[in-house]
Amino acid sequence: MDERTWEEIFTSEFFDGEVRFKESMRDYTSLRIGGPADIIAMPKDPMSMKNIFIVAKKRDIPVFPIGSGTNLLVMDGGIEGIVLSLKFFKRIDVLEDEGEVVELFVEAGSPLQGLVSFAKEKGYAGIEALAGIPGSVGGAIFMNAGAFGVEMKDVIKSVAVMDKNGMLNRLDRDEIGFSYRQSSIPQGSVILSANIILKKADKTYVEEKTRQYMDKKRQSQPLKEHSAGCAFKNPAGDSAGRLIELAGCKGMRVGDAEVSHIHANFIVNKGNATAKDFLKLMEIVRSRVKDASGVLLEPEIRIVGKND
Ligand code: EPU
Repeated sequence: MDERTWEEIFTSEFFDGEVRFKESMRDYTSLRIGGPADIIAMPKDPMSMKNIFIVAKKRDIPVFPIGSGTNLLVMDGGIEGIVLSLKFFKRIDVLEDEGEVVELFVEAGSPLQGLVSFAKEKGYAGIEALAGIPGSVGGAIFMNAGAFGVEMKDVIKSVAVMDKNGMLNRLDRDEIGFSYRQSSIPQGSVILSANIILKKADKTYVEEKTRQYMDKKRQSQPLKEHSAGCAFKNPAGDSAGRLIELAGCKGMRVGDAEVSHIHANFIVNKGNATAKDFLKLMEIVRSRVKDASGVLLEPEIRIVGKND
């Protein structure tokens, strides 16, 4: 029976990386909301990550992988178990550069905007429309992030995934089951890296398109405020933002949680919003939209953790 404390385990040869205990998830999410996580582990290599899964399984402790925490609402009671961060997995390499396409190897902790900039600088086309989407590449794959008709799935060739038993598998795009803001990668598994296919193009063309998409985003979304992106999924054929505005919710507030004046599907934290404030505002918005247009909106952000 392994009786070591978590402190002992994380300072043993079993683990190379960083670890934090009882730190607020405010500091690990773009919304800046959430109670403490028991443990936040940031492994530096796949073996340390595998060891976390193995020990956690033995002790029956949940492991919750996060990307950059940009699509998360963490409850005020925080997260039980181990939050697994990929902040040390940030490599981007060109694997194949023959012919008209290029294949990239991208580690899942790379910021999506780091990848967009890399493509822009090299003149690789395909992800210009993803300019301005926050978060990590792994998170963007898991949620099949997208904008202006382009989704992560459009450029994925394959993905390396570690399951909750620490087993590493490679999944081809067709095995992943991507749909709108969703993939079939099981909760609790972690994406380690992806092989991505882009098209070689004229550098100035890619730069110009990236800039145009970024400008559109800046004009229509509150990118400088603390948010988790769009709060609700778009119902088929419509925009949740349009319906929320139509229901008269722009500017509505519970505590420091506010429906953005710029884009109604963004709920922003004006300072010290709690998860309770945020959820209450989401409920009010949902019921107003239901009354006004008969549509029941579904959350797009992931809500995790426990109540106070
Ligand atoms: N609209 C309003 N009021 C608003 C917001 C939008 O009337 O407050 C109207 C716009 O004028 C436009 C229509 O609704 O006619 C669509 O708006 P927009 O182009 O902003 O797109 P969206 O459907 O609201 C989606 C994605 C965004 C993505 C944009 C750009 C979802 C839930 N939203 O928003 O993704 O950035 O398209 O492609 O799929 C996200 O996933 O977190 C996200 C923000």
